[in-house]
Amino acid sequence: MLATAPDSILMGRHVLHVPDLSATEIDVVIRVAAHLKITRTSDQQTLLRGKTLGMLFEKPSLRTRVSFEVGMTQLGGHALFASGGEFMVGSRETPEDAARVLSRYVDAILVRTHAHEPLQRFSAAATVPVINGLSAVAHPCQALADLLTIKERFDTLAGLKLAYVGDARNNVAASVAEAAMLVGISVNFGCPPTHRPSEAFLAQLQSLGAATGATARAFSSAHRAVRDADVVYTDVWTSMGEEHLAERNAATLLPYRVTGELMSAAAKHAIFMHCLPAHRDEEVAPDVIDGPQSAVFDQAENRLHAQKALLVALLTDLRGMPV
Ligand code: CP
Ligand code: NVA
Repeated sequence: MLATAPDSILMGRHVLHVPDLSATEIDVVIRVAAHLKITRTSDQQTLLRGKTLGMLFEKPSLRTRVSFEVGMTQLGGHALFASGGEFMVGSRETPEDAARVLSRYVDAILVRTHAHEPLQRFSAAATVPVINGLSAVAHPCQALADLLTIKERFDTLAGLKLAYVGDARNNVAASVAEAAMLVGISVNFGCPPTHRPSEAFLAQLQSLGAATGATARAFSSAHRAVRDADVVYTDVWTSMGEEHLAERNAATLLPYRVTGELMSAAAKHAIFMHCLPAHRDEEVAPDVIDGPQSAVFDQAENRLHAQKALLVALLTDLRGMPV
């Protein structure tokens, strides 16, 4: 049902990590995303007409860069892209100066950085919404798209179980787990001690899940972690910027590869998720990622819909949206 009154709960906000959003706000983004997904793009051209998104990338990207740029085009706005030598947060001028200047040109800024701290400084000085397009510690846009994907598959979120297997200390693990806890999905990590979330982070997850009763636990056994899971999730063993750890990670994480045999310990209806890019025969077996349980290309597509919803929520009062 379309709302009669506008709801501007997210307008003007920064999204650096998932807990910048409440469970209600996440629900709004997912509902708007589902609405935009089934609406003709020709009917969306006025939503962000005349708006510009600045996209600043210190690291490579396929999905994030292209889905945000296409999203802005479909919404009637414009995106501009700067990467590598053209833009490194804090290298040519302070993050604060760059943020103050850009805020005078564009309506929102998407940033992909190595370290998280310059992004925090950048957003503190920005006067337009700043979205984290992946930093060393968080990938909130991925998590929003993933919740949309899970909702499409199960028609509900609260009460489900998600197992995250592999490098459970990385950005995707953190954001997916935070989002899951907020909406009532319990999370089991399956990982070796070297890649286990800190006790402090596990405690933060527990408090995010307090309202819904969702729990977060870490197991050294991948099989124990995925037992009865509705969703089995993994990501690369070595994230961008950590290439010097690749050899150690490959040896340590080998028992945590998601194989058909591991998937058989999950619920029969379980889906396999991966943010992509993936490495077949490293973190996931080809028959799993290319098999019938895989949801990875729906996840990738849903980046577009979830991010369009986020942009509309940050830049408009959501008039006409199903909120
Ligand atoms: N999943 C994801 O963020 O992909 P890219 O690194 O290609 O943007
Ligand atoms: N953890 C990965 C995610 C890539 C989308 C990385 O940071 O490289």
